[in-house]
Amino acid sequence: MARKKISLIGGGQIGGVLAQLCALRELGDVVLFDIVEGLPQGKMLDIAEVGPVDRYDVDLKGTNSYEDIKGSDVVIVTAGLPRKPGMSRDDLIEVNSKIMTSVAEGIKTYAPNAIVIVISNPLDAMVTLCQKITGFPYNRVIGQAGVLDSARFASFIAWELGVSVKDVTAMTLGGHGDDMVPLVRYASVNGIPVVELLEQKYGAEKGKEVMEAMVKRTRGAGGEVVALLKTGSAFYSPASSAIAMAESILKDQKRVLPTCCFLQGEFGVSGYYVGVPAVLGEKGVENIIQFKLDAEEQAMMDKSVAAVKGLVDSMK
Ligand code: APR
Repeated sequence: MARKKISLIGGGQIGGVLAQLCALRELGDVVLFDIVEGLPQGKMLDIAEVGPVDRYDVDLKGTNSYEDIKGSDVVIVTAGLPRKPGMSRDDLIEVNSKIMTSVAEGIKTYAPNAIVIVISNPLDAMVTLCQKITGFPYNRVIGQAGVLDSARFASFIAWELGVSVKDVTAMTLGGHGDDMVPLVRYASVNGIPVVELLEQKYGAEKGKEVMEAMVKRTRGAGGEVVALLKTGSAFYSPASSAIAMAESILKDQKRVLPTCCFLQGEFGVSGYYVGVPAVLGEKGVENIIQFKLDAEEQAMMDKSVAAVKGLVDSMK
């Protein structure tokens, strides 16, 4: 079997971690692209030189030339500015749209068969733009947000209940903004509803308050990291989250992961990219998993979708 090829556009904080994770998991050969001369070359040399210690054997190349992404199976985009304290993701739209325009053109020209995973913010708008410019089918242009938002939600639940993060399942839907929809009803510890466990621990009323606080913290979790770092935004967690998606695609695992997908009627949404559970395999998005939301969830979803629409329509 030929080796897979992964190209990473943007060699900053997330790009560097992505490259290291690809190497550690031997997902395939890796190209790291950035416009800054020396930066991707330096990072890839640094990662390559520890192959004998970490025992990975893949080709790692840093570049300033799009030609090097030729033949990519998966391209992950992190090019673009991160936020600073006090900024919302939406504040990045103007500057990052310009960057995404040039990046998408590079991908279209040199990696026309790739599946593209976008991480750059504001996520829902940047994925939309990337698909428009590349003209790739919707199943091949997707965004990473939900895997991370869900992991944050699951972490808070595990910490609150004093159980292993490995046994918590939780998912968020909707846009990657302050109105995202953490699915309270389906959060579980090995299948046992978290709502029930909180009620046992605190009683019904306080249990509900504790859950609401975790939902709130999930929605603001990216900002919490930005406020602490001061110079940029989260990078380990978005990198790991995108790698889970890339791995499912490269190995045709068909994992069900919350993914920013183009909706054509699913969940009552048409013509916009929004986070929903999707089956990720060798074709990219192979299926969008639908299920019935209750009235409260649907109302939150509608609010989140309205925010995505407002942002996306502002680019037109
Ligand atoms: N083409 C390619 N790379 C570019 C371009 C461009 N036109 N413009 C900027 N870059 C590169 C920068 O040189 C930098 O190395 O993008 C990289 C971004 O890296 P960081 O500033 O470290 O940002 P990072 O933390 O990696 O986040 C990247 O992901 O989560 C989002 O909000 C975050 O939009 C941000 C993106």
